[in-house]
Amino acid sequence: MHKVGFVGWRGMVGSVLMDRMRAEGDFADIEPVFFSTSQTGQPGPEVGKPVTALQDAHDLSALAAMDAIVTCQGGDYTGAVYDDLRRAGWQGYWIDAASTLRMADESIIVLDPVNDGVIRQGLSEGVRTFVGGNCTVSLMLMALGGLFEHDLVEWVSPMTYQAASGSGAQHMRELLRQMGYLRDAAGTRLDDPAGAILDIDRDVTEALRSTGYPADHFGVPLAGSLIPWIDKPMDSGQSREEWKAGVETNKILGRRYEPIPIDGICVRIGAMRSHAQALTIKLRRDLPLADIEGLLDEANDWVYVVPNEPDASQKQLTPAAVSGRLDIPVGRLRKLAMGGEYLSAFTVGDQLLWGAAEPLRRMLRLVVA
Ligand code: HSE
Repeated sequence: MHKVGFVGWRGMVGSVLMDRMRAEGDFADIEPVFFSTSQTGQPGPEVGKPVTALQDAHDLSALAAMDAIVTCQGGDYTGAVYDDLRRAGWQGYWIDAASTLRMADESIIVLDPVNDGVIRQGLSEGVRTFVGGNCTVSLMLMALGGLFEHDLVEWVSPMTYQAASGSGAQHMRELLRQMGYLRDAAGTRLDDPAGAILDIDRDVTEALRSTGYPADHFGVPLAGSLIPWIDKPMDSGQSREEWKAGVETNKILGRRYEPIPIDGICVRIGAMRSHAQALTIKLRRDLPLADIEGLLDEANDWVYVVPNEPDASQKQLTPAAVSGRLDIPVGRLRKLAMGGEYLSAFTVGDQLLWGAAEPLRRMLRLVVA
């Protein structure tokens, strides 16, 4: 049985990973070993079978005894141990949620419902480093997989609506504090349907701009507002999040030498854990909408087409509908006024499931199979 080391399993993505692995019975097929950066020697988590005490996540010889290591500990940890472990000759599988190694030549970005062929070829060629993709990229590809698979996409412009969870657990807490702060600024006037809404709005806007508004983590208001920049600036004028859309999509699809342009604007909004995206797609040819819907719908087990109707869109194409689920609805499908090759789409998915934990657990299943 493969010895699999887990690092960063207590954090937000790690906890979602543990829950999914328990739910799918994944621990039955491996010998799990849990590592910690701060609590070596403490008891390991409950996974349905006995586990040893926590091992030191910086102990290279303990790590090197693993057949595979799955880490959700973050980029600093990857930077601190990965190179030393490989230099020491470790040949095991490194499965990582952090972005550090995503664009490295030796790695494959994993999203097996979309790039199973790329992964299997990599495994047969001896690739040992597998990294989860950026959440918006993975969610877009889960939704549009049918179009990419049939090479129907000339370019895509995604405009994102990204949830607080993409920034981290503390940011989710801060979003809720911000919501509460604004609710408190409205006060009991909310209970009076005849109350002057412009008075309430003035006080809420003042609260948004006040020094008391809780924004230690985001730095600016998110609740009652939005943030049209995610991650660091690039020389191109893109944010790093926007840059990732193009480079990671093409790497996942194995299109390094024939890249498809993917570029848009990434925006943080006040959703908790599901990212949505509005997509403008230039198709390579003018296909009937019904054919497009068929291709999208059959691409994987989780994507489904939502009819381009008000009720279905409002109820099914939202963070409220999909959070905590593996569902990938895609809707608002219609040909744009620019012509028959221009398609609009809107999709939403749980940022912590397909956007982070799920591709990692499925990759682990592939290597321990
Ligand atoms: N970078 C993403 C975000 C999350 O900020 O929403 C991780 O892929």
